[in-house]
Amino acid sequence: MNKKVHITEVVLRDANQSQIATRMPRSDFEDILETMDQAGYYSMEVWGGATFDSCLRYLDEDPWERLRFIRSRVKKTKLQMLLRGQNILGYKHYSDDTVRAFVRKSIENGIDIIRIFDALNDPQNMATAIDECIKAGGHAQGTICYTISPIHTFENYVKLGKTLEKMGCHSICIKDMAGIMSPQVAFELVSALKKELTIPVYVHSHSTTGLGPLTLMKAVEAGADGIDTAISIFSGGTSHPATESMVYALQEMGYDTGVNVKICSKINEHFKPVQARFLKEGGLNPSVLTTKIEALNYQIPGGMLSNLISQLTAVDKLDKLDEVLVETPIVRSDMGYPPLVTPMSQMVGVQAVTNVLTGSRYKNISKEVKAYCRGEYGASPAPINKTLMMMALGNEKPYEGRYDDTIEPEIPAAKKYLGDLAESEEDVLSYVAFPQQAEKFLKERRNKKALKVTYTIQEAD
Ligand code: CO
Repeated sequence: MNKKVHITEVVLRDANQSQIATRMPRSDFEDILETMDQAGYYSMEVWGGATFDSCLRYLDEDPWERLRFIRSRVKKTKLQMLLRGQNILGYKHYSDDTVRAFVRKSIENGIDIIRIFDALNDPQNMATAIDECIKAGGHAQGTICYTISPIHTFENYVKLGKTLEKMGCHSICIKDMAGIMSPQVAFELVSALKKELTIPVYVHSHSTTGLGPLTLMKAVEAGADGIDTAISIFSGGTSHPATESMVYALQEMGYDTGVNVKICSKINEHFKPVQARFLKEGGLNPSVLTTKIEALNYQIPGGMLSNLISQLTAVDKLDKLDEVLVETPIVRSDMGYPPLVTPMSQMVGVQAVTNVLTGSRYKNISKEVKAYCRGEYGASPAPINKTLMMMALGNEKPYEGRYDDTIEPEIPAAKKYLGDLAESEEDVLSYVAFPQQAEKFLKERRNKKALKVTYTIQEAD
């Protein structure tokens, strides 16, 4: 029998996030969900990452309701989400009670697989989410964030893979958020993990640098159990290799993806006008669709590079870009080589810009970098540079134990504050995760409901 390769379709989460800043409303995909359920995907990534924040902040949608709706239409395909470990779907560490409740409720509302990652690859930051996911009957997928640095060796990645397996993860994902993993590295890394682990290995990459499809192909040849792809109209550039192309190539090579290309074509036809509208209305910048090799040269993810450019443009200092690009790897090395993924990419970038603009390294240090030095984000991959530590903390000592143990439970206080504004535990969790956006959303929802009641009464007259 042909070797099976699982396909995870990411159009509703990562492609949506990478190409159109997660602005796709439910109305753009609700009619195609039942067809997607028939396509033969192993799973569909539909929730988590920035989708939660974006629903509340821009789309006036209850993210939980979105998930329940998808579940009601997608009955047999597994639903998958991305979770930032102890940061859940936000940008800071939350208390253990929040992480546990969030994971439990995600599964209760329809998620099957939770891909759990940490920006520092610190297993401690993934432990609570993994434990709760397993307890709640979910599939816990532990994640290795791929980055390039002197300390990110195959040996260290395999060690992390083994730790995640020991923690009870049902599978492992190699997450190449910047699209900088080369085909050869993918081949060697997947081979090494397959040799040492018994659980399945999945590979997530992006097309940003043009390596994506090659990297996924070599990963499959090395024995990867599954890959992430996006339906063709939302593939390429900062998004992912195209589902149909990968399926075509893999089937021809004798792999069984289980994906029905005829159904893919229906799905693609559905999303064509959606893409066209975003392109026409400016929600999709054509520059994200092209291949950008800079990430390979500077080893800076595409999203981070455009952030650096916009920060410098805002203060009319774009002429300093070359200096910032030299400064960025220095800051990253001083910080112990964190992978450049949210929130570390922002922290490193802002600090590099500050260093260049003030003309003095670490004269001004952001409160986030200070918190990082204190240990509030977990363990840095390599030790933090001593000078940076001194400049950031002075005589203050960093945390010795687990910082998260010092965070008070957040749910009881949030419940009390919201009172009857929260109609469910999900509402409370939305508030804990994104207080301002959620409170605004919940208040507007209440107002709309009050309005509805008035109309009903008038109609009764
Ligand atoms: Co991604």
